[in-house]
Amino acid sequence: MKEQLITLIEQPEELRSSLTTLLPMLRAISGGYPAVFISEKNNTLPSLVNMVFESGDISPDAVKNAYAKADLDDAAHASALLICGDSTALISLSPICYCDAVKCGKAILAAADGDKSLLDTYTVPNVCNAPKRLKGKVAIVTGAAQGFGAGIADSMAAEGAHIVIADLNAEGAKAAAESLCEKYGPHAAVSVTANVSDEDSVKAMVDAAVLAFGGLDILVNNAGIVRAGSLAEMQKKDFELVAAVNYTAYFLCTKYSVIPMKAARAVCPDLTADIIEINSKSGLAGSNKNFAYAGSKFGGIGLTQSFALELAEYGIKVNAVCPGNFLDGPLWSDPEKGLFVQYLNAGKVPGAKTIDDVRKFYESKVPLGRGCRTEDVVRAIFYIVEQQYETGQAIPVTGGQEMLK
Ligand SMILES: NC(=O)c1ccc[n+]([C@@H]2O[C@H](COP(=O)([O-])OP(=O)(O)OC[C@H]3O[C@@H](n4cnc5c(N)ncnc54)[C@H](O)[C@@H]3O)[C@@H](O)[C@H]2O)c1
Repeated sequence: MKEQLITLIEQPEELRSSLTTLLPMLRAISGGYPAVFISEKNNTLPSLVNMVFESGDISPDAVKNAYAKADLDDAAHASALLICGDSTALISLSPICYCDAVKCGKAILAAADGDKSLLDTYTVPNVCNAPKRLKGKVAIVTGAAQGFGAGIADSMAAEGAHIVIADLNAEGAKAAAESLCEKYGPHAAVSVTANVSDEDSVKAMVDAAVLAFGGLDILVNNAGIVRAGSLAEMQKKDFELVAAVNYTAYFLCTKYSVIPMKAARAVCPDLTADIIEINSKSGLAGSNKNFAYAGSKFGGIGLTQSFALELAEYGIKVNAVCPGNFLDGPLWSDPEKGLFVQYLNAGKVPGAKTIDDVRKFYESKVPLGRGCRTEDVVRAIFYIVEQQYETGQAIPVTGGQEMLK
């Protein structure tokens, strides 16, 4: 039985598809204190345990009934309750970190064998009780290893959100998540290696988010790439790559993210969730010799409006943020392959002799006189999450460079 338990804890693959809807329901019903109940005592929480791991009935009504019948005195306030033989451990934190359930399970098994030294190690205190704008919300931020995504993830974690840093760059994602945990506490972030243009990878990303934090409230669809070039220069493979990462991936990330969002809403009709696309000013107006990018971003606004119509009945708001040029970010400022260097070398800015000349040229196009910064984008994201009466919008954050018609 012990071996079965640890197998269950460590290898949830078989259960993943049901956990991706079940955990969000439990988290929603319990008001943010989700629970994984793993028990080998049949007299403890039997209906819930059976329902989770045996009955296979995870319809909203079945989950609500099982939760109502379960004896949840302590467990209602615990994220993880693991019972093995005579040893019991409660981890009290919000929201659940599945990794902690695994560590906790191992500690209990060790205790059952007489080694109690690990038990205390896994009692994790609540990180912060101060009021925060995104407290307890779970967010995936794609492409968050660097650039806008990293800054967005940091600002959201600072406001109490639990972040899944999802990026193709595994090392960068891991480092970014570790940095957030150092700054904001052990459950601020986890990293997932993901290719947002690959369907299996996106599905695994959403499953990992739910297993880490019990549900999903916000998707920030940020990962994006640029391949500029004229009609004569542009290769089909580059055009298709831009479309795959900027356009198709938005469809895939939304398709899988709404699964846990809808599950939570099915048991808690007041809940709302957010899909937020980081679009671009190039999604609002054409971009000379940059049509692959602009086309993918225009398409993103079509998806935003259409998803908004489809998902409104589930309380899922869908909006886009359209930033202007992030002149301080790596895309522009990288000293070797950044756009400033590229444009200087290509003579794209007439008369420019230095990188500074190129920068000034782009700043002069902005009525408010500077490039877009992460904090400008973050303000729009907070507005979108807090505003309960708007969906399907594309919000310009361009310093006045693009204005809505
Ligand atoms: N930089 C700008 O001036 C600017 C302006 C407006 C909008 N945007 C948009 O903001 C978003 C972020 O841009 P940025 O400048 O921060 O970019 P960036 O190049 O600095 O970072 C992009 C991140 O996405 C990751 N990524 C790329 N392809 C991926 C894939 N297939 N799967 C998962 N991750 C992938 C990269 O590894 C990287 O960490 C993009 O959607 C971009 O179009 C950028």
